[in-house]
This record gives sequence, C-alpha cells and structure tokens, in this order.
Amino acid sequence: MNRTVDWAKLRADFPILDQKVHGKPLIYFDNAATSQKPRAVIQALVNYYERDNANVHRGIHELSMRATTAFEAARARTAKFINARSADEIIWTHGTTEGINLVASTWGAKHLQPGDVILLTEAEHHSNIVPWQLLAQRTGAKVAYIPVTGDEGTLDLSKLDSLLTSQVKLLSLVHISNSMGVVNPVAELCARARKLGIVTLVDGAQSAGHMPVDVQAIGCDFFAFSGHKICGPTGIGALYGRQEIMEKLPPYQGGGEMILTVGYDKTEFKSAPHRFEAGTPDISGPIGLHTAMDYLDAIGRDNIWKHDQELANYAYDQLAALQNIRLFGPKTGRAGLVSFLLKDVHAHDVVTLADQGGVALRGGHHCTQPLMHKLGVESTARASFYFYNTKAEVDRFVEVVKEIQKFFGG
Ligand code: ALA
Repeated sequence: MNRTVDWAKLRADFPILDQKVHGKPLIYFDNAATSQKPRAVIQALVNYYERDNANVHRGIHELSMRATTAFEAARARTAKFINARSADEIIWTHGTTEGINLVASTWGAKHLQPGDVILLTEAEHHSNIVPWQLLAQRTGAKVAYIPVTGDEGTLDLSKLDSLLTSQVKLLSLVHISNSMGVVNPVAELCARARKLGIVTLVDGAQSAGHMPVDVQAIGCDFFAFSGHKICGPTGIGALYGRQEIMEKLPPYQGGGEMILTVGYDKTEFKSAPHRFEAGTPDISGPIGLHTAMDYLDAIGRDNIWKHDQELANYAYDQLAALQNIRLFGPKTGRAGLVSFLLKDVHAHDVVTLADQGGVALRGGHHCTQPLMHKLGVESTARASFYFYNTKAEVDRFVEVVKEIQKFFGG
C-alpha cells in the first residue's frame, strides 16, 4: 500500500510521549518490551467500563449482551488481523507466553512420546524454551536447536536437513528475534516442516504489530502474540490454532465457560475456542485490542514495517560508525531494533546513563540467556523502535551513546 502517513500527527495520539524524564524530553526506545497506547485505545477501555461492563456469555441482560458482542467482535477482528480463516481459530490468552504454554500443555501432552524431538532455534525467548523443557521433562521428549551464525543472529540453515529427523514432532520458532532483530524465514521453514508432518508454532510477539502477518501464507499451525506490544492493553494476547488441530485438542484449564454439561463424574466440553477459555476472561483486554488493531491497520502495517526498518537502519549505520562498539543482529533486513555493547561498559550502565538523558532503552539478557551465553556476553543494550519514533530521536540517542562513551573514557 502506498499511502502517505503523517507520522508526526500519529505521535500526538500518544499522551505519554509528551513528557520530560530527568528534565529531558522522553525518547521511548523500549518498544520491544511494550508499546505505548494511543488515546483511542485508552478511551475504548474507559467507554467499556463506563457504559458496558458486565460478564460475557452467561447473561441475557442488555449490558451482558453488549459486552459479549464486543468481546466476540474482537475475536473476529483478531482473525482478520492475522488472516485466520475463522474467529474459532482464535483463543484469548494473557499473551505470547501463555499461548505457547497452552500449546505445550494441550497439544504437547497429547502428542509427545519419549524420544520425540521438539525443535527450536538458539535465538528463542525464554517463553519459547522453558515450556518445552518442562514438557520434555514430563514426556521424555528432547529439545533440539537450529543454530544461529554468531553476532548476526541469523539461522544457520545448513544444519536443517540433519536436524529435521523423523523424531521431530514440533518446530517452534520466533518470527522476529527480540534481542537480535532477525526476521526468520518462517514460511519457508513451516513449509519444510509440514512436508514432514511436523507441527509448527510461530512466536509472533515482535512481528504481529510491526509487519503484515498472514498465518495462512506462513502456513503455521499455531501463532502466538501479545496485545501490549501492539498498542493494546497489557494482559491480553491471542493464540491462533489451525481449526483441524484445535478441534482435537484436550482442554487447557477446567472451570466455568468451557463446558457444555457437568456431572459429578463427567464433563462434556465446548468446542474450540471456548473449550480453552475457563473462567471469566479478560473482557476489556480484547475490546482495547480491537481498537489497537483498527488503529494499526488504518496506518497500514506495511507502512509501519518500512518506518521501523528505516529507523533501525539509520540507528545501526550511525552506531556502526563509532569506535569500540559491538553490534548484534544482521547488517541488512533487520527489524526495528538495534542491540549493542560498548567496550568495557556494562549494558546496565548504558541504560542507566541513557535514562538520565531521557532515553528509555533496555539492557540485559532480554530473556534470551542461552543466546547471550553462546555469543559470550551477559547482556546487551537495546533500542527498539515503533512508528511514533523519529529520526531526530535516533540522532539524540546516538549523541547520548557518544556522551556515555566519553564518560567511560572510550
Ligand atoms: N520480551 C520482551 C522484551 O524483549 C519483554 O523486552
């Protein structure tokens, strides 16, 4: 889509950005951790609580029907957002982490046997490692990893043929790496897995709100993402599951809402997706998320993607021109973030000093400790961008990095 976007006007939709931190204008570069929320999303939550708040599905009074209609409309909107075939393929979760845990608990418990292999990549977030390690402990399955190439963080696909053994039952991988900014070839990998009968899960936490996402084109069986990283509220996320797979999965948690009938000895369950949603759900979350998805698609995720990449390349090129800096992630084709280390300066010190300059970065292992160990580092500093960030902010950020180097005598 070739629309001209007035980025400055969009920025004014985010009240939080209009403030000073330590006396300096806030530059919010921690978008991979969580995005800020536009007024429209905040207002959708206020409207819901001021006018429509009631429990969903069980009531036949006006407010309950309004809440139910909005709750289910958000599910249909989510299906459209990622091009699922049906709203029935969308399960509400707390976020990406719960989505992956849900697949591990239901699909994993049903399908994995001792000796089976769960194939991941070395660049996964802990939320796409730990649930599988726990599942492996319970089932006797093993976890294996597609290696990454080094500081660039791209996958070494030369090892793929030997890793795709007949024992592999699941391939679960990140779409965009949160610590490296690598965009993985998920469609190609899912196609290869599918030919071998391997079930696939894509962690879309860093991609869903930043680029157009089409789960049918990717060809994955599961796709998990979080609302709070895409301008929506915290505590809500969605798991896409291909209908043919979801229909056969056992329930996740037991309780109200997910049953057809309950007897003292036996329970009959609803069909998907309601079978996976026990208890009173987060109702305002999907409603806020609906508004966030409308907001993003009015801009166009293709436009957001170009903007993100442009800022990341602009930042990368300026940082690469500095001395005594180690940059992570690919030189080209990176998503909207830059990870780096300054020689002899701990990432936490970089983040603390940047904060004094008004720049919000993130420093640490980014929940990718095994990858950090592989790269021989404890942590990196990370600047992650979204559509409301500007080149002027990147210029200021680079100045701050230079000041930090000077402070440490670099
Ligand atoms: N996974 C989030 C991040 O990368 C929290 O910061």
